[in-house]
Amino acid sequence: MSGGTGQSGRGGHGGQGGRGGTGGTGGGTDPEVAGAAPETHNPAPDTDDPAWYADDGLWVDFAPAMFSGARADSVAELVATARLLDLPAGSRVLDLCCGPGLFVVPLARRGHKVTGVDLSAAMLERAGAALARAGAEADLVRADMLDYADPGAFDVILNLYTSFGYFADAADNLRVLRNAHRSLAPGGRLLVDVMGKEVLAGWIGRPQAVDLPDGSYVVQRDTVLDSWRRLRTDWTLVRGDTARTASIHSFLYSAAELHDLFVAAGFTDVECFGDFDGGPYDQHSRRLIVQGRVE
Ligand SMILES: C[S@@+](CC[C@H](N)C(=O)[O-])C[C@H]1O[C@@H](n2cnc3c(N)ncnc32)[C@H](O)[C@@H]1O
Repeated sequence: MSGGTGQSGRGGHGGQGGRGGTGGTGGGTDPEVAGAAPETHNPAPDTDDPAWYADDGLWVDFAPAMFSGARADSVAELVATARLLDLPAGSRVLDLCCGPGLFVVPLARRGHKVTGVDLSAAMLERAGAALARAGAEADLVRADMLDYADPGAFDVILNLYTSFGYFADAADNLRVLRNAHRSLAPGGRLLVDVMGKEVLAGWIGRPQAVDLPDGSYVVQRDTVLDSWRRLRTDWTLVRGDTARTASIHSFLYSAAELHDLFVAAGFTDVECFGDFDGGPYDQHSRRLIVQGRVE
């Protein structure tokens, strides 16, 4: 997803540091992948599957678009250089919704005590394999972010690449922030990285197409729902003569809205950034990164 530090993909439906790939789920298609985009003619019906995110097959099928090798490389660079990810040695880090471990691996390699939490068994298996390949160690836990909390256990919690806002009930998304607040030690901080509503508004409406290394391609199209409260992203993966479709529903947040949600969850010193170096969230931003602290 995006953010200025060069990570590709729009990051969780969106992404950190630049777009350039589908990355990320519910956060709007990445504008940088516009261009070759063929119009799709089979939009998904406007129905809401409340548990779309629990479909393991979705993450597996769209993994080449979201978790490419190129994105893994840019994430590793981000972890090595970004100011907001510059953590004291040995920090206890929770990557909430860790996927196949793109952040878990470089964070563990830097000597942090990393826990990766994800609902998808397939993604955790991939994260485990990636750790083994890297000769690194981390705890991997299968859990729902709606329920997961480990009181006072972490110095930093990361929720990245538009892995937030998945629940159809707004109160459940607040509950995720409250869980994170409870899981942080005093002085700890939470970072949430999504595609901000303001950024999305700048380019929504243009379908995006991304070519994948194996010759398949993904087309994404975003539809605003509920007067800009929520977003549906329809994905079509075309491989040979087969097409696989999926729809992702998520809340959309402006900087002010996500800021206020952090405050409602009990966070202090809440700040909004436009990239992982702590740049401002302004008209140049591609990502919305909100940070809050626990007193
Ligand atoms: C867009 S991916 C982002 C993965 C990772 N943060 C990254 O930067 O590559 C979202 C991840 O969230 C996981 N996920 C979805 N719903 C979840 C839930 N309710 N609890 C925990 N993980 C969830 C998915 O399985 C997927 O791996």
